[in-house]
Amino acid sequence: MPVLDKFVIEGGRKLKGEVRVGGAKNAALPILAATILCNGKSTIRGVPALRDVDTMCQILGILGIRVERNNDAITCEAEDEKKNTAPYELVNTMRASVCVLGPLLAKRGSARVSHPGGCTIGVRPIDLHLKGLQSLGAKIDIRHGYIEASANRLKGADIYLGGPYGSSVTGTENIMMASVLAEGETVIQDAACEPEVQDLARFLNKCGAKIEGIGSKILTIKGVKELHGTDYHIIPDRIEAGTYLVASVLSGGTITVRNARARHLGALLHKFEEMGIEVESGRDWCRVAPPKRIKPVDVVTQPYPGFPTDLQAQIMALLCFAEGISVITEKIYPDRFMHVAELTRMGANLRKEGPSVIVQGVKKLYGAPVQASDLRAGAGLILAGLVAKGTTELLRVYHIDRGYERIEDKLNSLGAKIERVAEEYPKRPIEEM
Ligand code: EPZ
Repeated sequence: MPVLDKFVIEGGRKLKGEVRVGGAKNAALPILAATILCNGKSTIRGVPALRDVDTMCQILGILGIRVERNNDAITCEAEDEKKNTAPYELVNTMRASVCVLGPLLAKRGSARVSHPGGCTIGVRPIDLHLKGLQSLGAKIDIRHGYIEASANRLKGADIYLGGPYGSSVTGTENIMMASVLAEGETVIQDAACEPEVQDLARFLNKCGAKIEGIGSKILTIKGVKELHGTDYHIIPDRIEAGTYLVASVLSGGTITVRNARARHLGALLHKFEEMGIEVESGRDWCRVAPPKRIKPVDVVTQPYPGFPTDLQAQIMALLCFAEGISVITEKIYPDRFMHVAELTRMGANLRKEGPSVIVQGVKKLYGAPVQASDLRAGAGLILAGLVAKGTTELLRVYHIDRGYERIEDKLNSLGAKIERVAEEYPKRPIEEM
């Protein structure tokens, strides 16, 4: 019988001490996909042990890449370049699988990738990915739920990649990876400049690509004949770091988050200061002091360097305790509010108004059975459970395991009390079979 883990969280325990953040999931995934472009072996270091990383390694294996894992180092080398299909059953579990599309097209001339579905945070279209690849000369069809793409040799082009919600992270990554082996120069306008996109560009340049404008909204890529393998260490996970910093403030304790880069967390640290929370940071660590009171603030999620949508649920959990009214507006995924109903079950005073949620601060939250709907909503609910009065049962922890390495162990090492309990699927009455 398949097992669904749940977390049983005892609230009200102050957290203190140090926690070390792992490598960035959203850098590891595109960089692993980019090894398809390389002739020879690449070793990617600092890779976190996450379900999504396992999924990407499985997809690479199916695509003829030999993948060897040695703790946090993953070595990849192409063995069979005739394979070009990323199957539904894997792509359907992880949207980022779409990042193999650009590399397969550029290196092997054809790709057959299951169209990534939507998920609980929104429809998740890939029109910008496909528009960009077509601009480079690819022929794209959608047949039986698969994207079928082919191109003899991609040709550089000027591509405007902005969409209705701003730039696209994996859209920029796909087009960047497709253009590094294209003939001539490609310019990507309104490119995403998230640290993870920058990390991918630096990996590609270390493999011999010629990418300029890294960190800006305009990327210029001069196509080269081939890329060689390399040895590369990925950046730390800024979203994991931000999650632990919010946990620190919520618990009323003091946590030092190691392997965290303050310059990747500017929007969050700025919000903390607006809320009256004192921030200290060094080259690779951050610490926040427990405030006497939390001032209400307004938060609007934006593409980097704006406030990250991946920290929206976490900051909402914190603002539930602010002394007054805060407004959180989600400009990247207007439907990314599945955690609102769950937080309300815990006693939060939240009201959804279109793409915004009005948060009226309350004195307490109360433990309750709640369920994770996506990776970051789950993280937000763990944080709420840490400070709620009583016990919180968080179901569907598998969402969280996709992007947080051993989160319960790391929080327990700081003084939390979280137990992972295997839960059988609920037995369904016969009549529903
Ligand atoms: C990346 O997803 C991240 N995933 C997401 O993190 C993150 O929430 C998101 O960027 C925004 O920062 C990875 O990097 C693997 P987008 P991505 O394309 O690339 C619209 C997590 O929790 N859009 O930047 O899929 C889209 O609907 C995950 O780690 C189009 O309209 O996001 C959204 O509104 C969740 N057309 C906005 O752009 C397209 O072709 C930003 O999406 C593509 C996107």
